[in-house]
Amino acid sequence: MNNVVLRFAKGDFSRKVKIATKDEIGQLGHSVNYMAKELESIEQMRRDFVANVSHDLRSPLTSIKGFLVAFIDGTIPEQKKSRYLSIMKSETERLIKLVNDLLDITKLESAELTINPTSYNISEQLRLVIAKMEPELSKFEIEVELDEEEDYFVFADSDRIEQVFINLLQNAIHFSTRQQVIYIKMKKVENMLSVSIKDEGKGINEENLKKIWDRFYKVDQSRTNNLGTGIGLSIVKQIIDLHQTEIEVTSELGKGTTFTFKLQLSGE
Ligand SMILES: Nc1ncnc2c1ncn2[C@@H]1O[C@H](COP(=O)(O)OP(=O)(O)O)[C@@H](O)[C@H]1O
Ligand SMILES: [Mg+2]
Repeated sequence: MNNVVLRFAKGDFSRKVKIATKDEIGQLGHSVNYMAKELESIEQMRRDFVANVSHDLRSPLTSIKGFLVAFIDGTIPEQKKSRYLSIMKSETERLIKLVNDLLDITKLESAELTINPTSYNISEQLRLVIAKMEPELSKFEIEVELDEEEDYFVFADSDRIEQVFINLLQNAIHFSTRQQVIYIKMKKVENMLSVSIKDEGKGINEENLKKIWDRFYKVDQSRTNNLGTGIGLSIVKQIIDLHQTEIEVTSELGKGTTFTFKLQLSGE
């Protein structure tokens, strides 16, 4: 057992502890093997993470550099310049989004991160977020319909909740098609506020629905037509966890998706 454990310590999980007895030593052997399996999967996730991030950073940089070289060499015809510049702009935006997501996730993972809840008007916040996203909404001709009986006040970390709204709304826009509507509903359920964001977009099948919270998971893995990083929902989940509440998702392929989360209501 000793030799195998020393190999585990060096990151070699190819061998398992042999279990010969049913006593306490045998039990320990089982536990050690279990620990090794868990460590191996964490190690694999770490490797995938680095590989994914490196790829996601390299591909836009390579494309931006290619365009820059062509601009410097003067090989780009005048009428194509503005199109290439706008590709460079969107590639840069993609890099910024990735780096921001990574910074968020690192912050959220460090044990020091605590949320800073205050009592605030979440209805007001939501109207502002929607206003900020207006350029994106009108670009895709998507409308947002807000349904609430009154202004609600919650006890939560407003910066973090803004991030939850932005991530969920960006997904709703991204996975909808032109002229569809996003419905947002806020209502009291017992002593909590329930917020649901519903789109009429492409939906997610049952199997993928379980995986969407995983870091880097995207249903459509192809990198060409999906500018996402697969990080957004894992950030949402962590923020909701920090608020010690829950987020649920229901979806039907081709019909749309609804995310619902609850927050602590507060007095004004
Ligand atoms: N509203 C939605 N409609 C359909 N699919 C969605 C929706 N929100 C998330 N998904 C799926 O979950 C995946 C993970 O979402 P997310 O973590 O935000 O990553 P990203 O948006 O960067 O791809 C998306 O790639 C998509 O496949
Ligand atoms: Mg997203």
